[in-house]
Amino acid sequence: MHVPHDVTVDLARLADQEGVDPSVDPYALYTRLRKAGPVHRVRLPVTEDECWLVVGHREARAALVDARLSNDVRLAAERRDDDSLAIGRNMLQVDAVEHGRLRRLVAGVFTARRVRALRPRVQQLANELVTAFLDGGPADEPVDLVPALALPLPMAVICELMGVADEDREDFHRWSDAVVKPPTPDAAGAALHSLTRYFATLIERKRRHGGDDLLSALVRANDAGNGSSEGGETPRLSDDDLLGMVFLLFVAGHETSANLIAAGVHALLRHPQQLAELRADWSLLDGAVEEMLRYCAPVQATAFRFTAEPITIAGTELPAGDPVLVSLGAVSRDPELFPAPDEFDIRRPPSEVRAHLAFGHGAHYCIGAPLARLEAALAIRTLLERCPRLRLGPGRVAEEVVWRPNAMLRGPAGLPVLRA
Ligand code: HEM
Repeated sequence: MHVPHDVTVDLARLADQEGVDPSVDPYALYTRLRKAGPVHRVRLPVTEDECWLVVGHREARAALVDARLSNDVRLAAERRDDDSLAIGRNMLQVDAVEHGRLRRLVAGVFTARRVRALRPRVQQLANELVTAFLDGGPADEPVDLVPALALPLPMAVICELMGVADEDREDFHRWSDAVVKPPTPDAAGAALHSLTRYFATLIERKRRHGGDDLLSALVRANDAGNGSSEGGETPRLSDDDLLGMVFLLFVAGHETSANLIAAGVHALLRHPQQLAELRADWSLLDGAVEEMLRYCAPVQATAFRFTAEPITIAGTELPAGDPVLVSLGAVSRDPELFPAPDEFDIRRPPSEVRAHLAFGHGAHYCIGAPLARLEAALAIRTLLERCPRLRLGPGRVAEEVVWRPNAMLRGPAGLPVLRA
């Protein structure tokens, strides 16, 4: 089908015409769009929001460092209600100086050293989860890898980073589950409220009796600021902003990694030859994780940007105040950068595979990237080493895996596998 360049492309209609289900395979749609040009005005499926979608790699890199594309929703010509603003502004919603001061505060405590120091603990958690996975239920029955390993590992890590007490974890899991998969529409709001209250109490607790967790360090660093909201070197954040930051770290830090682990294992199990090569040579692991990031794109699109003034991308004019998304899924399969982009290949040269934009690019580049890489590498290696016969559950082929339909995040809703 011809994709017109000068009108809004309705992605749900395009998918119908192409006979593809974007929640199963959005990549066929991205290819269509990319062939017609690197940027399009689109109507998104499900939410029906209209925005510009950047699908070309070169244009995406340029857009993500273009100061005229702002993360500040206040620039939007058409404002929509944004619940997330109710819990303080977070660093993905602000630009330049304001962004810098929020980001520096986290970067100062979420250091490479802290992530390295987490390694033994992440390994221990992976061992415990894989032991339970191997020991649970009859050996010949399929087990869903998402609740068994992919989700609880990053969840446990983020709970430890935040210093969530053991006795609070059950409530905490229940609320965050209800936020991600609300049983009823009201349940999400109620759970969000409970989580917000919980985080506010947690911040207060860390303020009074801090420990050596990341949240205590964040609260200490913030409270050591000089209290000035302007001009000071280290201005203190308001409690709302601190809450917004904690919330962002929590939300950005677990489902994303869970998607990478589950989708990555799925990709490997569908490519048994490469799986065997990896088992035979663990020096391929880091490259394999990069290829999983490129091929699976656990975060399919950036947060919305807004045009602060009219801008032109590859000859297309975007008016001021318009929302723009960069499709990280599309750009990480751009054939200009990645030969045979739709093929999963753990042996791509590092200089090639590392050009993926799965963690974004520019000022908002993912601050959790080293942790996400560590979690995926340890989870996948531990699983494969201890489960030599791991394979997809009966009749499970690519098309039968249910992907969570969400324009921003993408990962298997479940991944039934056989252990013996
Ligand atoms: C596979 C796992 C992950 C992926 C694919 C991922 C992806 C991304 C992407 C694409 C962005 C940029 C969004 C944009 O520019 O609009 C981002 C930002 C961010 N990520 Fe991650 N992320 C992952 C894991 C994590 C983890 C584990 C944490 C923290 C514990 C984290 C914390 C953040 C934060 C705080 C930002 C905002 C940075 C800023 O605005 O300056 N992420 N992530």
